[in-house]
Amino acid sequence: MSDAKKLAAEKAIDYVQDGMIVGVGTGSTVAYFIDALAAWKDRIAGAVSSSEQSTARLKAHGIEVLDLNATGPLALYVDGADECDAHKRLIKGGGAALTREKIIAEASARFVCIIDPSKQVEVLGRFPLPVEVIPMARSLVAREILRMTGGQPVWRDGVITDNGNWILDVHNLAITDPVALERELNQIPGVVSVGLFARRPADVVIVGGQPPRVL
Ligand code: 5RP
Repeated sequence: MSDAKKLAAEKAIDYVQDGMIVGVGTGSTVAYFIDALAAWKDRIAGAVSSSEQSTARLKAHGIEVLDLNATGPLALYVDGADECDAHKRLIKGGGAALTREKIIAEASARFVCIIDPSKQVEVLGRFPLPVEVIPMARSLVAREILRMTGGQPVWRDGVITDNGNWILDVHNLAITDPVALERELNQIPGVVSVGLFARRPADVVIVGGQPPRVL
C-alpha cells in the first residue's frame, strides 16, 4: 500500500501552483506529499499545517509553516483519508488530527484527497468513526452516541490530540446519511469535531496506482 500512497501523493503535486500557500493534512500518505512538496519550497509561499507531526516534517524540509489566521482562505488543501465513498465523502481522524484538518478543509477552495485503493468503500463506517471530545465529556458523549446511533464508542486510551482533547472511535456504524449524522453528532455538548467530512467533502480524489486515478 505504501507504493499506492506515494503515487497518489506525488500526483497531487499537479495541483500546486507558483506562489501558493498549501494546506497540508496529516498521515503516512501526506508524509509522501510533504516530501514531494520539498522540491517546490522556493516556489510556494508556505504551508498551513494540520498537526504538530506535519509541521515538524514541513520544517525539516525548510518549508515555512504559516498561521491560518494570517493567511486567510487557501486555494488548495491536500490530505489523506481513512475511508472515501463514491460522493467523495470521507472518514478521517485515524491520526487524531481531524479537527485541524476540518478547519483547513473548510478554509480551502479545493480539497484534494490522496488515498490508496483500500480506502474506497460503498458505505462509510467500516473504519471506526473518530470523534474528538473535551475530556470531561467523554462518557456523556459516548452514552449519547450509543443512544443515537447504536454504534459502540471506544476511548482511544493514551491519545491526546494536538488540542489537548481525547478521541472516541465509534465502531459498527453503517453510515447511510453521512451529512445528517455529521450534523447530529456535532450537536452533542462536548463534541469538538466529528471525523465525517460529508458537509464539506473532497473536491478531487486521487487513488494511488500505476497510473493514479483522478476522481
Ligand atoms: C489523520 C487522517 C489521515 O488522513 C488518515 O488517518 C489516513 O492516514 P494514512 O495516510 O496514514 O493512511 O485523517 O487524522
